[in-house]
Amino acid sequence: MCGIVAYIGDKDAYPILMNGLRRLEYRGYDSAGVALLNGDMRVYKKAGKVDDLDQFIGTADVKGSIGIGHTRWATHGEPNDINAHPHLSGTGNLTMIHNGIIENYGSLKAELQERGHTFSSDTDTEVLIHLIEDIMEKEQLPLEEAVRIALSQVIGAYAIVVMAKGDQDKLIAARKSSPLVIGIGKGEFFIASDATPIVEHTKNVVYLNDLEIAVVTREGDLSIKTIDNQRKTPYVQELEWKLEMLEKGGYDHFMLKEIFEQPRSVKDSMRGRLNPDKGIVALGGIKDYEQLLVNAKRILIVACGTSWHAGLVGEYLFEDLARIPVEVEYASEFRYRNPVINPDDVVIAISQSGETADTLAAIELAKSKGATILGICNVVGSSISRVTHAGSYTHAGPEIGVASTKAFTAQLTILTLMALSIAHKKGTLSESRFQVLLHALDRIPAKIEKALETNDLILGIAERYKEATNALYLGRGYNFPVALEGALKLKEISYIHAEGYPAAEMKHGPIALIDENMPVIVMATNMSAYEKIVSNIQEVKARKGKVIAIVAEGDTIIHEMADYTIEIPHTEEPLSPLLTVIPLQLLAYHIAVLRDCNVDQPRNLAKSVTVE
Ligand code: G6P
Repeated sequence: MCGIVAYIGDKDAYPILMNGLRRLEYRGYDSAGVALLNGDMRVYKKAGKVDDLDQFIGTADVKGSIGIGHTRWATHGEPNDINAHPHLSGTGNLTMIHNGIIENYGSLKAELQERGHTFSSDTDTEVLIHLIEDIMEKEQLPLEEAVRIALSQVIGAYAIVVMAKGDQDKLIAARKSSPLVIGIGKGEFFIASDATPIVEHTKNVVYLNDLEIAVVTREGDLSIKTIDNQRKTPYVQELEWKLEMLEKGGYDHFMLKEIFEQPRSVKDSMRGRLNPDKGIVALGGIKDYEQLLVNAKRILIVACGTSWHAGLVGEYLFEDLARIPVEVEYASEFRYRNPVINPDDVVIAISQSGETADTLAAIELAKSKGATILGICNVVGSSISRVTHAGSYTHAGPEIGVASTKAFTAQLTILTLMALSIAHKKGTLSESRFQVLLHALDRIPAKIEKALETNDLILGIAERYKEATNALYLGRGYNFPVALEGALKLKEISYIHAEGYPAAEMKHGPIALIDENMPVIVMATNMSAYEKIVSNIQEVKARKGKVIAIVAEGDTIIHEMADYTIEIPHTEEPLSPLLTVIPLQLLAYHIAVLRDCNVDQPRNLAKSVTVE
């Protein structure tokens, strides 16, 4: 949700900023802009994508070895040229990029207007840069001090970078509840919302903490202070990402690449954590909290979007295998409904980005009530990974496609490992069942590989249904959340209305929608509910619905009944979501491509939702 990038050093800033914006575009893509300093200050901004900005700039003067850039996902003010960042102060001497929301911008704006400030955009960002300049002039303070004082008056979330026309040798950055990473190169600094624009330049980074302000200078100094003026020592970490991870690697879209990466990403998420031959499943990150989980009377899972769907599978896993009651909560609802949280509750927060504002707020709330918080995040060093008591990273690698795919299966992998380990410690699984599940889990990456071989078949099915206006996804038990996830994938990227439903519940509503044009995608791999699923398929067929069934290989009964069957390898039921979701990801992908939709950057969506 908005990407920011900045550079200071001895190279031309412009190509670095534009390249950085392209890497960050997955975060927001309704408008973009850059500002460069080279004696004078030049600001270029444009509604649309980074390519539109590039075209707009054309051959204009882009000289300068210091600059800032922004790609926006609109919160305050429609996405147009004027509301695009960077924004200028009243005199035009300062410029700023911002990710987040200044909640009290209305009152700050009114005060500034009373003092004669006029504003050209509808954004909260313009208010903040005016405020900084106002304080600087009124109090005769250096810029960094004015930034600090202005930020202490701000309610809301921000990651900002400020650049001053009068000082070509310095950038000032600050964060609260929105991520910011500083890359340290040789005689140069990079500042960005995440590490994607930095990886190709340097591996040494400092993650700024909340309420910290950093000043980087051309001389190579990095100093950090808190908003209440305490000096901090920068903690330099090494990035593990490689540049290839951020490229499409021959695929047409990041989403397709990420779908096909799943054998590897699931394997990486298990690596060093699962040894079926020795009967070992161990998550080092939560080792000290395992006993707490074993004794937990209740687990609360909080998340948003696809991560919430992973949480729902987690509910089945923890209840079925470890016999711990679980409640899965939308973080946005949980945080505002005065939930009952006990100090002995264990809260598991799931987030690919580790930056989702509602999930962060839900964690803070649960923490304040004394609960223990464990995280499952993909982005190392992200805000959620830092506020939780402990956690396990998914090792899916950077996920760039806005619709989450490999992060989902990596989250399921961690949840499965966690549930198995707790179940074993609690004694809720027999030794033989435990062994069977460990070996089955170990074989999942190879089975995902096999499930991906259905790609051509699914392309054919996508051709047949690309004009559908509605679709229904049905599943039972472990595969009910997968039905929700399949429907979400289709909605997100192809803009076809789709609903996920528990198969039996279909009779209580959605069955009324079924006609000969309605594709109904049914997950029919669960052996425990096989006959029931067969009945549900018959109910759909009796109403002339078109059935696309995901079945375990060798199935003959459903093959006879369904319009299309997609065979995937057989596995143990608790692990089946790791396989059934694969054809659903491919189906959504191909339908979206055939409908000419922007698969990696679907309209109105953002990869990381850092506003509530
Ligand atoms: C956005 C993304 C989804 C993601 C959700 C939660 O809506 O488009 O793909 O599932 O946020 O994000 P998180 O990073 O917390 O998993």
